[in-house]
Amino acid sequence: MERGLRARCAALITHNTLQQEGADISQSILYTALMGLLLVADKEKEVNLTLGSGQIGLCNVGNTCFLNSMVQCLSHTRTLRDYCLQKKYHQEVSSRRKTELMDAFSEVLSDLWTTDMSTAVHPGNFNTIFKESVPHFIGYSQQDAQEFLRFLLDRLHSEINRTSPQNQPISDLPESKYNKLREDKKAMLMWKHYLEREDSKIVDLFAGQLKSSLRCSSCGHESTTFDVFYDLSLPIPKGNVSGGRVSLKDCLTLFSQVEELKSDNAPMCDRCGKHTDSTKKLTIQRFPKILVLHLNRFSASRFSISKSTATVSFPIHHLDLGDYGTECAGKVLYNLYAICNHCGTVHIGHYTAYCQQERGWFCYNDSRVSPISESQLQSNQAYVLFYEME
Ligand SMILES: *[C@@H]1O[C@H](CO)[C@@H](O)[C@H](O)[C@H]1NC(C)=O
Ligand SMILES: *[C@@H]1O[C@H](CO)[C@@H](O)[C@H](O)[C@H]1NC(C)=O
Ligand SMILES: *[C@@H]1O[C@H](CO)[C@@H](O)[C@H](O)[C@H]1NC(C)=O
Ligand SMILES: [Zn+2]
Repeated sequence: MERGLRARCAALITHNTLQQEGADISQSILYTALMGLLLVADKEKEVNLTLGSGQIGLCNVGNTCFLNSMVQCLSHTRTLRDYCLQKKYHQEVSSRRKTELMDAFSEVLSDLWTTDMSTAVHPGNFNTIFKESVPHFIGYSQQDAQEFLRFLLDRLHSEINRTSPQNQPISDLPESKYNKLREDKKAMLMWKHYLEREDSKIVDLFAGQLKSSLRCSSCGHESTTFDVFYDLSLPIPKGNVSGGRVSLKDCLTLFSQVEELKSDNAPMCDRCGKHTDSTKKLTIQRFPKILVLHLNRFSASRFSISKSTATVSFPIHHLDLGDYGTECAGKVLYNLYAICNHCGTVHIGHYTAYCQQERGWFCYNDSRVSPISESQLQSNQAYVLFYEME
């Protein structure tokens, strides 16, 4: 990466020299600016972390496999891991701010990545602090790993939120003016508004923007809303798709296809002034660096919850999400680096994680860690997929 940057800078400088015979002031400014960039890049690299193998498990402290598997997935999110290990958040937020959960989380990651750890790490303190902050998770019943991830990211974010209450958000645009903007301008404005309030490493890495287009079937009026997401929850198509196999593409297609809403389910149409039959379509407006895809295996009917055990095949390299973005998105490529698996039933189940390291893929099964081959990654237990943008 860094070598790439250096090469690109060198190319730029050379290119500029060729174009403008005889060095002039603009060239030297360009040169200084580029060298500045290189120095910044070097400085970022300077804090060289000495990492252990990372092949360390987490003790189960009472039905905490959901927590263990998610922590392993996050622990293999390299940018987040390094940020935690270097305790960078201390430089970003006021020292008076309480960062209890973030400290406990970083402590677990430090233990998982020290060079002298050989036994499994005990996540007890982190578990206790998390449950204090989200009382909903108290008790030792089967917990949903996806729900845990959402709560955890939310709490971590609020502790390391860089926005200070003194920040005066720029005033909202009056609705009449907003409505006249082009769609991409609206999206950008909503995104800026969000970042004025919510700004942290968690946002930098996980936040994306979803566009929801609504069309009234009665009068044709169209409206769009933009929402921030930290993961996408994908439905699994029922029955046989493309010859008995369900692929991630099938799930994404179902997620983004036009959905018919009956009037009692539809929001009010601004023009008709009432709830009308409508259509809704979701598009990814802004892609996150880290894309978390939740394969929604659990579906609740009126009386019970059932679990789909369909095998969803997914690409490990070069997942292209361009088709699900706005028209000008082009290719948007992601590589898989972690999977949270769920086996068992709705009532009794077990979570494990498959995570990628420099030395290949490993299975994290609470305190047990074992190597696993790339061909073993796909199973009907894959539940949450972690992708990083190329
Ligand atoms: C982040 O900080 C801003 C400013 O204090 C606040 O408005 C916002 O609610 C905070 N976000 C969270 C999730 O706590
Ligand atoms: C799904 O497809 C497989 C293989 O094509 C077939 O054996 C199976 O009976 C099909 N199941 C259903 C519910 O149609
Ligand atoms: C996890 O460990 C348990 C207990 O040893 C074992 O029964 C189970 O098969 C393991 N799961 C995986 C996915 O390795
Ligand atoms: Zn209407």
